[in-house]
Amino acid sequence: MRSGENTAVQDAAQIQGRLAIHGGTPIRTEPLPLEFPGVHHIDEQESEAAARVIASRSLFRYYGLNPQKEVEAFEREFAGFLGVSHALAVTSGTGALNVALSALGIGPGQEVIVPAYMWVAVAGAVVSHGAIPVLADIDDTFCLDPKSLEERISPKTSGIIVVHMSGAPADIKAIREVARRRNLFLVEDCAQCIGGSVDGQKVGSFGDIATFSFQMNKNITSGEGGCVVTNDRRLYERAFACHDLGYARDEKGRLKLDNPDLLLWGLGYRMDELRGALLRIQLAKLPQITANMHRSKYRIRKALERLPGIGLRRIVDPEGDTGPFLITTYRDALTAKLVNQALRAEGIVTFPQGISNIMMSDWGMHLYYNIASLVQRTSVDGKGFPWKLSENSGSTARYEKGTCPVADSLFERSTLLAIPSSLSERDEEDIIQAFEKVHGALLA
Ligand SMILES: Cc1ncc(COP(=O)(O)O)c(C=O)c1O
Repeated sequence: MRSGENTAVQDAAQIQGRLAIHGGTPIRTEPLPLEFPGVHHIDEQESEAAARVIASRSLFRYYGLNPQKEVEAFEREFAGFLGVSHALAVTSGTGALNVALSALGIGPGQEVIVPAYMWVAVAGAVVSHGAIPVLADIDDTFCLDPKSLEERISPKTSGIIVVHMSGAPADIKAIREVARRRNLFLVEDCAQCIGGSVDGQKVGSFGDIATFSFQMNKNITSGEGGCVVTNDRRLYERAFACHDLGYARDEKGRLKLDNPDLLLWGLGYRMDELRGALLRIQLAKLPQITANMHRSKYRIRKALERLPGIGLRRIVDPEGDTGPFLITTYRDALTAKLVNQALRAEGIVTFPQGISNIMMSDWGMHLYYNIASLVQRTSVDGKGFPWKLSENSGSTARYEKGTCPVADSLFERSTLLAIPSSLSERDEEDIIQAFEKVHGALLA
């Protein structure tokens, strides 16, 4: 090799080794696949299921020209998958939360504990029922911290909503122990963790009642959709009544009017047959979808374990992690931001509409202090419902930043990388190489 060529090769190597953010060559230029786990697995099976329902001209779940009973079948199959006695399909995860809280009899004068890392609909469902959401902090699982939970229980606390966030289960056994000892109801919000488990038991089967969402970002999807599940016959009947007209039905579909506990008010969240049919197909694909994300995520996690300075979220039971997100944590906010910007410059991003690879502090309505209606205690009636109700007087609940210091610190110091269900080995290698390169330049 001539000396000029030698210098050119050395220059090229230096540029390659240099971070893309500093003018070096990025690890990749092609965007990563979008997240939306269930969407990548939609094929002719979903098309055929939808066509079958349309051909039947019976889109309503209870009757029609030629009822297919798709929603009913989905409920049976989903309950069987989770190992619970009852499943009730509804139109969204938000609807599921509202139905669950109505079934539990939530109202003014009650406090319900919710985690600092959640989704706006969790606090929203409590407020809509006239009750007061009380924040508890998270721990290194990024889910409800059992110790903070215990500290925030007051004489007005009636229950807890635990949220299995970002694909992995909360420390559900410890949380259930607190709920039982303190005689509180336990709702599991499993919207982000469909198919997750702890010690082989599926999330959604630990609490009194659980909710799911099948909106497009979830592990399986029908675009929109949700489900309420429980082992408690009474809660199921009340949930059923609330999701429909306010009344339960007997085996023949007739409204039951003889039980005052079941003369309620309907919220109108019935699921339609098209979505029921799609969800049956998606449910059958769920093990494959989560296996793909799990494999990709744990290959990447294993590589990151060797890189000091990159902290990994504590996973209560790695076997039961469904895998759609990788959370990494750094010593301070500035380091996290630098690493995130450097990784993005290396091409660890997706198309503009994807979430892909972001600072957790940019994760919108998942962070309690970003929920403006909560922080400002707004009300739909403009008169202060439910905050100013006499039943809720004396509440000391706070919502501004600083209320949950562990969450505040974790949000600022952590990044969230979506793990699509369709990552190729090459994509995984690029992600690992990008982390190694950025680690070498910024953290070593
Ligand atoms: C934890 C959690 N709960 C509830 C919901 C609400 O579900 P939906 O969008 O189906 O109303 C979501 C949806 O993003 C969620 O992430």
